[in-house]
Amino acid sequence: MERTFIMVKPDGVERRLVGEIVRRFEQKGLRLVGMKLLWPDRELAENHYAVHRERPFFQDLVNFITGGPVVAMVWEGPNAVRLTRALIGATNPLDAAPGTIRGDFATEITTNLVHGSDSVETAEKEIALWFRPEELLR
Ligand code: CMP
Repeated sequence: MERTFIMVKPDGVERRLVGEIVRRFEQKGLRLVGMKLLWPDRELAENHYAVHRERPFFQDLVNFITGGPVVAMVWEGPNAVRLTRALIGATNPLDAAPGTIRGDFATEITTNLVHGSDSVETAEKEIALWFRPEELLR
């Protein structure tokens, strides 16, 4: 059974879309195995986005993610990584199909509401960064 890390970003919390986003993963049939509301500090945000450290948008991205509370979650199910990414939609909301979370609710590439791990290996790293093992269901 596969697990993935999902985060509702500060814009999603601010816009009261947490319930809507959770509902979509629940309705798909995925199992929620961990969830918490927290305000990420700079160290956590920079670690989370470390692969983007050299990109021109890195500072904006870290400023945005540390700008308010986020909801960090772990979802479990068959092919959870690919399934959740399909529900989230393309990174740039311009390319995200209607029916996806970003396609339905987002307009900007930075304020794109939700993050989902891009591979099983990334998911393992991100889950370990955001959660202690005892915070997750077995
Ligand atoms: P996320 O799925 O959280 O992973 C990396 C984030 O970087 C991505 O969502 C976008 O919010 C952001 N991002 C990716 N590409 C760009 C870009 N070209 N300009 C600004 N932000 C970007």
